[in-house]
Amino acid sequence: MQDLLQWRPMTAGDLDGVVAVARVAFPDHPEGRACFVERLALAPDTCFVLAGEGRVAGYLIAYPWPLEAIPPLDTLLGALPSNRDSWYLHDLALLPEARGGGNARAGLDLLFAGIDAPIALVSVNESAAFWQAQGFAPMGSPALQAKLSSYGPHARYMVRSVPKPV
Ligand SMILES: CC(C)(COP(=O)(O)OP(=O)(O)OC[C@H]1O[C@@H](n2cnc3c(N)ncnc32)[C@H](O)[C@@H]1OP(=O)(O)O)[C@@H](O)C(=O)NCCC(=O)NCCS
Repeated sequence: MQDLLQWRPMTAGDLDGVVAVARVAFPDHPEGRACFVERLALAPDTCFVLAGEGRVAGYLIAYPWPLEAIPPLDTLLGALPSNRDSWYLHDLALLPEARGGGNARAGLDLLFAGIDAPIALVSVNESAAFWQAQGFAPMGSPALQAKLSSYGPHARYMVRSVPKPV
């Protein structure tokens, strides 16, 4: 399966597949289909799927969002900030059979190539080491920890600054 998979922009026709991947990848953090529909409508340029043979095997959703303002789980945003000074990586998830072959890193490379500002996320599923290897660092404060309450006790807020040019 791995060889046939490629990242491409998400379309409305992918949403059933995206919801199915989310159910498998985030059993403890369920979000309704309406959230995915809204994110794609608000930020189509930074929503991607990993797909092949007509099947969605993974997805990535990001959008402009203020740093340290964590969107509550399973909630519609209504609108996005007009400035693009910072971003939020809402989800990166692959089906189990699509993991372990560099697919997640390839999706992140695609995203990072299109944005030029810090990006934050909430690490769940004990994924902090993965994010750290992708350039994210934990950011903690009592106020941030309180905002993470709907994400469970092991959730971590992490931020990736814009890498300096080499
Ligand atoms: C987290 C996830 C996206 C990683 O996908 P993946 O396909 O295994 O990642 P890649 O193959 O691109 O791995 C990139 C690197 O990260 C490492 N890695 C992968 N998962 C890791 C983890 N949980 N902890 C530490 N390192 C990890 C890989 O070994 C690889 O290292 P390398 O660069 O030395 O080769 C995938 O496991 C997943 O979808 N999990 C369920 C959803 C989830 O938890 N998403 C993140 C929640 S915030």
